[in-house]
Parts: sequence; C-alpha cells; structure tokens
Amino acid sequence: MNQTNQRVSWLGVGRMGEAMAERLLAGGVGVQAWNRSPDKVAGLVAAGATLLASPALSDAPVAFSMVLNDEALDALWQADDGILAGARPPDVWVDCSTVSPAASQRAADAAAARDVAFVCAPVSGNPLVVRSGNLIFAVSGPPAGVATATPLLRHIGRAVHVAGRGHEARVVKLCTNLVLAVLTQALAEALVLGQSHGVRRAALMEFINDSAIGSPFTRYKTDAFVRLDLEPAFTPEGQRKDLRLALRLAAEHEVPMGVSSATEVEFSRLVASGLGEGLDFASLVLLAARDAGIAIEPEHD
Ligand SMILES: NC(=O)c1ccc[n+]([C@@H]2O[C@H](COP(=O)([O-])OP(=O)(O)OC[C@H]3O[C@@H](n4cnc5c(N)ncnc54)[C@H](OP(=O)(O)O)[C@@H]3O)[C@@H](O)[C@H]2O)c1
Repeated sequence: MNQTNQRVSWLGVGRMGEAMAERLLAGGVGVQAWNRSPDKVAGLVAAGATLLASPALSDAPVAFSMVLNDEALDALWQADDGILAGARPPDVWVDCSTVSPAASQRAADAAAARDVAFVCAPVSGNPLVVRSGNLIFAVSGPPAGVATATPLLRHIGRAVHVAGRGHEARVVKLCTNLVLAVLTQALAEALVLGQSHGVRRAALMEFINDSAIGSPFTRYKTDAFVRLDLEPAFTPEGQRKDLRLALRLAAEHEVPMGVSSATEVEFSRLVASGLGEGLDFASLVLLAARDAGIAIEPEHD
C-alpha cells in the first residue's frame, strides 16, 4: 500500500532494479514498474507495484531508471514510447545505471528539452547489499532535482554522496568500480598463489578479512572465492563494461592506467574462455587457477 502519497515510475527491473524498487515499495512509495522484458516485473507487481506498459504512459512526478549500459540509457529516451515521449513526462528523472558521462549528458540534454531535471545517481553495492539496506549513491545534477531525489534515495539506500552539479557522479562510480575490479583480480592471483604453496583459500581469506585491507567487499566475496559460490551478483561482462568506460575516460585525458588496463585484459580472457559464463565476476579465480595449472575445487569446512 502507498503510505506516503509519493509516486514514482521505475524503469529497468533487472537484478539491481528489482531489489531497489522493492525498497521503495517497502518504504510506502507507490511504484509504477516497467521493464523491456515485461515478465521480470511480476515479482514487483506481487509486492504492490503497478505494471507500466511503457515509460511514456507514466504520470509519476519522479522517474527512476536502472538499466544495463549506455545503449540501454539511450533507448530509454530515444524510443517512441520512451520516458520523455509521453503527455506528462516526469519533473525529475533519476538514473542509477552505470554509464558514461557522455551518455548521461545526452540523456540530460534530451530531458532538459522537456523541462525534466536529470539526476545522476549511480550506486555502489549489489542486490544483496541493496536488500540489507547498505546501498550507497553517488549523486550529481541540478540542485533542485537532487533535493527531490534525495529522500527517495534514502528509502533505497543508507547514504547519498553529492559529487557535483553535472555528471561527476558517473566518474566517481567508474573510479570506484575500477578499484573493485583490480582488487578482485589481485585477490584471485593471491588465492591461487597461496593454494600453489599449500595454503587453503579459507585460511588466506580469514587473514585478509582481519587485516587492514579486509573490507565489506572482501568479506562478502569470501564464499565466492572459498566455496566457489559464484552465483552472479554482477557478471564478468558487466564489470568489464565498467572498466572499459573508465579506460575510455582515461584515454580522453591521457591518464596512463597500467594496472586497470591489465585487469581489463584478464576480464576479456575470462569472458572469451567461457569460464565465467553465467557466473559472478569473482570467477576470475577460476581463470587464475587454470593459468597456473592448478585444480580448484570448492572448499567446505
Ligand atoms: N549487479 C550489481 O552488482 C551492480 C552493482 C552496481 C551497479 N550495477 C549497475 O546497475 C545496472 C544494472 O545492472 P544489473 O546487474 O541489474 O543488470 P541486469 O540484471 O542484467 O539488468 C539489466 C537491465 O537493463 C535492461 N536493459 C538492457 N538493455 C536494454 C535496452 N536496450 N533497453 C531497455 N532496457 C535494457 C534489462 O532489461 P531486460 O530484462 O529486458 O534485458 C534489465 O532491466 C548496470 O548499469 C550495472 O553496471 C550493477
């Protein structure tokens, strides 16, 4: 039931979008949900959302989007029945996808032409993090739009970090994900090195998690590395997409990124090998083990 009289549309009900929109519903916000493949909306509808046949049909004052990449964001506003095509476009459009600043600018320009304030609100977290209430947002955009978006974002996650008035939040997100990707590759190599010298992955992760570099990330990826529970929170292709966006930004400003570039190659090798097919990006450990000629099996207590 809508207990707040607030209404939003939610465009993009993938792994992240579903978990995030569930939190708005749980916070008493009315949600009109749309997804390109409509079958994925069933869970949200069961949780109280209404099904939106197309983004253009929404009459909610605030629209959220959470879609895969630049092409998907372009499609949201370029489509004949897109978010800006209806009789009543939203006042504020909050996009949470991980996309390039360039795609973000294109969407903002199109939105401005219909008097819609465009807010960038990419996230750090995965679906489990969302459901535990620990998602965080990097936000940028016109201050009035940010002010409208912020209380709604606080229904979804625990913190909203304002990065600027333009598209700075995109850069913050891509820089953060770059560190995550490099760290994951470093952990994969370290775990395989340890195993090659007789150290159980569980023992090494226990020590790393208790050390200064232990973090929520190393802790929640521990089962992936130790038990090889590799159900995807985020795919290798998705993580590589983010790395490539960061490397493109680096090329634009002549910023050398040796370690990140090498990590992109490892993600490409993982994708090309098929070893990460349908798995989480922590499946980098499978590739590292194969490269080292080491058999890797799930470790149980
Ligand atoms: N998963 C994570 O841990 C995580 C963490 C932080 C940020 N992110 C970012 O969150 C975004 C969504 O990720 P996800 O993991 O939820 O991915 P996902 O489960 O693959 O969902 C992707 C969503 O994008 C939609 N989409 C793809 N191409 C489209 C197009 N051309 N037009 C319209 N919709 C399109 C999909 O619709 P269909 O269902 O029709 O394919 C689906 O709703 C990405 O930008 C990702 O980088 C993910």
